[in-house]
Amino acid sequence: MTTTLPLLPGSPPADDDLPAGAREHLTTTPFGLYVHVPFCATRCGYCDFNTYTSDELGPGANRAEYAGTAIAELSRAARVLGPDLPTVSTVFVGGGTPTLLPAEDLAAVLAAVRELFPVASDVEVTTEANPESVTPASLATLRAAGFTRLSLGMQSAAEHVLAVLDRRHTPGRAAQAAREAAAAGFEHVNLDLIYGTPGETDADWAASLDAVLAAPVDHVSAYALIVEDGTRLARRISRGELPMPDDDVLADRYVQADTTLRGAGFDWYEVSNWSRGDAARCRHNELYWANANWWGIGPGGHSHVGGVRWWNVKHPAAHAGRLAAGESPVADREVLDEADRTLETVMLGLRLRDGLPLTALSDAGRLRAADAVARGLLDPAAHDAGRAVLTDRGRLLADAVVRDLTD
Ligand SMILES: C[S@@+](CC[C@H](N)C(=O)[O-])C[C@H]1O[C@@H](n2cnc3c(N)ncnc32)[C@H](O)[C@@H]1O
Ligand code: SF4
Repeated sequence: MTTTLPLLPGSPPADDDLPAGAREHLTTTPFGLYVHVPFCATRCGYCDFNTYTSDELGPGANRAEYAGTAIAELSRAARVLGPDLPTVSTVFVGGGTPTLLPAEDLAAVLAAVRELFPVASDVEVTTEANPESVTPASLATLRAAGFTRLSLGMQSAAEHVLAVLDRRHTPGRAAQAAREAAAAGFEHVNLDLIYGTPGETDADWAASLDAVLAAPVDHVSAYALIVEDGTRLARRISRGELPMPDDDVLADRYVQADTTLRGAGFDWYEVSNWSRGDAARCRHNELYWANANWWGIGPGGHSHVGGVRWWNVKHPAAHAGRLAAGESPVADREVLDEADRTLETVMLGLRLRDGLPLTALSDAGRLRAADAVARGLLDPAAHDAGRAVLTDRGRLLADAVVRDLTD
């Protein structure tokens, strides 16, 4: 059972007293930093990320001041985790739209990471970007500052699909931005796609996949459109203006993506992620999936160190205000017990190409795994070798298999 640590009434929780147990493997466990940038030019109708279109968010929370606030939290993180600091193996700047900030601000945040933490010589440094918010000049600045990987939200190459998703870029802009990133010397470039948008046809999806393959990218993330409660998309669907994405169509689109990407030399390594070779995998996401350690900087940032999980206050003004007052921006935290950690390991590990050892499952889970092999959802040879690995059919039903093996 998860234990929420007791907090003093009325006082924000202090993260300065990380329990001793959480530090036990701190310097030997892979460690990553996530920096959340909570700004977007406009909100896409499907998106429920913690992001704001206004620049009037309060002192320290406006775009021009945000790098300083992120750096203040980085200093705090180094103080809390020190004196024996873990070496940073990955940095991921996500959003929101990080590239709404000047490239110099993102460079300053990365420079602060290097000043405050030991950083691995082969550190992976990713920023997410919207296709319309980068230029050859901004990409050159990011590359020179040490960013190694660019992850662009493309979503679709069909104009009418982009319109339903409220995207602001033209169909060709994402591939063009990928070319600009390659020209700027980025080692790794990813394009995000969304499938199953109302009105999208098989031909639209094929054209989106072809457009990705024509771009100089070594990584593709493809997500089924999720209709999140409270979004404009959800309201349009509930009013009957748009149909709900159909499960059979989503399954067909997934198979189409996997077949096309495999045919072009990409391999899946997590249910929604494909790379050209192992070196192109996103190591930051692998660190999450392996339940390693990370610190999430920024409003709503989530962190995990040695079985303690905590999350920051959500609003940028509250986050900046706490840091400016020298207080912790943490909203709450919990300590995971052995059962929680096992459950997370199974939920995350099963979605990976390598799967997970059957010994990670409970006795009941192992019995259900044998049944899943009989139903064609888990690979029989891997099962004989002691691992639970999804088959191609199993990937289509990954969430159901996870539920089945963990119930
Ligand atoms: C935080 S967004 C960052 C990328 C950048 N802001 C952009 O939109 O270009 C990361 C990715 O999550 C995916 N995503 C966000 N909301 C989604 C939803 N409701 N359903 C499916 N995918 C979603 C999109 O593919 C998006 O590119
Ligand atoms: S640009 Fe990206 S983060 Fe911003 S609203 Fe759209 S999908 Fe969400």
